[in-house]
Parts: sequence; structure tokens; C-alpha cells
Amino acid sequence: MQLLALHGPNLNLLGSREPGVYGSASLEQIDALLARRAQELGVGITCFQSNHEGALVDRIQQARGQADGVLINAGAYTHTSIAIRDALLAVAIPYVELHLSNVHAREPFRHHSHLADRAVGVICGFGPASYGLALEGLVVHLRHRP
Ligand code: DQA
Repeated sequence: MQLLALHGPNLNLLGSREPGVYGSASLEQIDALLARRAQELGVGITCFQSNHEGALVDRIQQARGQADGVLINAGAYTHTSIAIRDALLAVAIPYVELHLSNVHAREPFRHHSHLADRAVGVICGFGPASYGLALEGLVVHLRHRP
């Protein structure tokens, strides 16, 4: 089983970016956490970060026929991007949406997601642990679907 983890804009700054909101782990540390947990679960994982909406769309399109599932923290694009939603639906790869922060406890503009209604599930609010939880949820879903 091969998975793709997508990190959206500004997540490359994790560690120094608003640590009170997002925690002190760097994106490198989060990718290492994902790689470790994926190995424990016996799945492969590739990670990709971009600050650019089109680059994320391109990467999703490339995943067609390659990835069995996608983990996506689309950052602010979660709340704005119909293009990323359309790409995920076009490739028809099951995905889990995740966030470090509890977006529902924050500004109203973060309460809406263009991705959530078609996701397998959504995890938010657990800091870096959101990634491990989302990975487990995705693997359980892919292993138990009919
Ligand atoms: C975020 C929440 C988004 O609202 C924000 O724009 C981000 C990070 C999170 O992981 O908590 O960039 O996706």
C-alpha cells in the first residue's frame, strides 16, 4: 500500500510559525514521524510540500494509479481551493483531511472546508499527532473497505 502526504502553504515554516498554535515540531520532524509510523504499519509513504496551489494540483494528478490513499493538510487552501477539491475527486483516491490546530475553535473563515465532505474523515486539533492519527485512520479505512 502506497500513500501520499501533502502539505500545503506555510507548512514549510512549522517549528517557527506561530508555535502557540501549531507547536514546535518542524515539517522535517513531521515527515520523519510519518515515515516511522508508516513503516510500523507496513505501508509506504511519500511526502510533498508546496506553497503553490497548482503544484499541489499537479502532484495530486501524478498520484493517479500510484497512491492508494492521500493525507492532506492543505493549510489555507482547505478553506479556498475548489481546484484542489476537484483534483482529489478527479483522481478518485481516498483521502483524509487533517490539521494541526482545531480549525473549528478558530476564526469563522477556517470553519469551512472545500475538502471535508468528500474525505474519508477529518482529524484536527492534536498538533503533530494529528498526522499519526490521520495515517492510522486512512490505513484502517483502506484495509477494511469492501
Ligand atoms: C492548518 C489550519 C489552516 O486554517 C491554516 O491556514 C494552516 C494550517 C492547520 O494545520 O492547523 O495553514 O491547516
